[in-house]
Amino acid sequence: MNETKKNLIPNRKWWKEAVVYQIYPRSFKDSDGDGIGDLRGIISKLDYIKSLGIDVVWLNPIFASPNDDNGYDISDYQTIMKEFGTMEDFDEMLAGMHERGIKLVLDLVVNHSSDEHKWFKQSRSSRKNPYRNYYHWWDEEKGKPAKRWSFFDVNGDAWKYDKATKSYYLHYFSEKQPDLNWENPKVREEIYKMMRFWFDKGIDGFRMDVITFISKDTTFPELPEKYHGNFIQYYAEGERRHEYLQEMNRKVLSWYDIMTVAEGPGTTTENVLEYVAEDRPELNMAYHFEAIDLGLQPPERRLLDPNGWSLIDFKNVYSKWDAVFAEKGWGTIYLGNHDQPRMVTRWGNDAPEFRELSSKMLTTFLMTMRATPYYYFGDELGMTNIKFDKIEDYRDIMTINLHKLIEKEGGDIEQLIESHKISGRDNGRTPFQWDDTANAGFTSGEPWLKVNPNYETINAELQEIDENSTLNYFRNIVKYRKDNPVLIYGKYTLVDKDNPNVYAFTRELYGKKLLVLLNFTEKESSVKTYLDLSRAKFLLGNYPNPSVNGTLKPFEAVILEF
Ligand code: GLC
Repeated sequence: MNETKKNLIPNRKWWKEAVVYQIYPRSFKDSDGDGIGDLRGIISKLDYIKSLGIDVVWLNPIFASPNDDNGYDISDYQTIMKEFGTMEDFDEMLAGMHERGIKLVLDLVVNHSSDEHKWFKQSRSSRKNPYRNYYHWWDEEKGKPAKRWSFFDVNGDAWKYDKATKSYYLHYFSEKQPDLNWENPKVREEIYKMMRFWFDKGIDGFRMDVITFISKDTTFPELPEKYHGNFIQYYAEGERRHEYLQEMNRKVLSWYDIMTVAEGPGTTTENVLEYVAEDRPELNMAYHFEAIDLGLQPPERRLLDPNGWSLIDFKNVYSKWDAVFAEKGWGTIYLGNHDQPRMVTRWGNDAPEFRELSSKMLTTFLMTMRATPYYYFGDELGMTNIKFDKIEDYRDIMTINLHKLIEKEGGDIEQLIESHKISGRDNGRTPFQWDDTANAGFTSGEPWLKVNPNYETINAELQEIDENSTLNYFRNIVKYRKDNPVLIYGKYTLVDKDNPNVYAFTRELYGKKLLVLLNFTEKESSVKTYLDLSRAKFLLGNYPNPSVNGTLKPFEAVILEF
């Protein structure tokens, strides 16, 4: 597209045009042999990151933490986690990224801190302490507080009794992650100050952890009836959430050229614009769970039925979410992250004959939708779930505590283990597979989480030299998206919507029209496009001999131009 046409596109923004690459620092590259990835490891791989063609790196939390939840329990927001390195390493890493034209987004975890944060240590020390009100306390003489569910607690209970002051404190996540009290203006000012510290260092944005949960009704009433069976929705509908985010925007975000993205549990197509419409203003983007949660089993939604979704559901969800942003706001798209299993295992097929094909097909989906793609490290290699057979192999507090809870309830442990082979978070956290040397070249020590034994065949070094590898496919399609604004801004239209096997859609912008065809099955499948395919030009696909007649080979992806 020529420059004049590009200039016609309204509301262009760098973060809409960016491809975000998420790095889980604990598992990317270890530089000092302690078995834990670190910042110097990232520094040593900056040229690899650059070679992917991505624009933004999002790093999971790198701040001081006792690591109850791998850094999502922060004990000091302005210090680097000792396992990850020092502030000097951070500065060098940031400069190295900026030199290469890569922006850096950090994780902002401010719904809760660690119980080892100095604020909480003060807060729990006495009812009269000036920090008392930094957290949510419920004094024992008021009786037992109304039930709140916890995601990670061994009893599923979000209230923990603390003997020292004879009170309960609130923790939506583990008992080492007490929830901060946003009603207290001092807490908000501390958070804003800390955010400015990082922006003044030059970071380019924040991904905001469970930011939809920050506002709470501090009278802590019984969970209203309409939220029974859906406490997440209740957590996400605190009355003052938008007031806080608008204040944060006014006091901090609006002063910098940065991007923000909410982790948005509880966001729906009805309410998401309240977070991301330009005229609010609050945040730039949010990511929802509606697609990624397909197949979670009612009533508790703790376990996953891997076959409990259909491509029709999947298409409906993504089409509905695209429509929300047709006029206002902007979307995100992802199929993997540190809370999810590996994309190819969950949404494709990780058997040897289909692994590469289906990885490339899913990558094609992510890179051709109208939304900023968040691409999870290792998916470019087609890394797969490790599928642990026993609980001892897991390191994730979520799995470990759910196991304890189910054991206590006398529930079905076997079912948990089986279901977590597909859905367990540690599947997406195994070390990055660099080469076929010991521990996949990730560490010279003992890795903190087992390396997937398939590293001998699935690794970056092998894929570098193979021009048809998933790695090189990713590089090509990233470049392709960036060179073709129609893939970023173009109108999206679902085609052959009731087709159970093929996801087909068009993207159109200023006279340019692309057709994307994605076969989500291991069978040959046909699609009705109502377009004259004989006129189409083949642009990109995942087979050497692409199908251009509307009948696709197993997991085939093709992009055609009209
Ligand atoms: C978010 C994070 C997840 C973490 C939780 C608590 O969902 O993505 O990894 O465990 O918040 O901070």
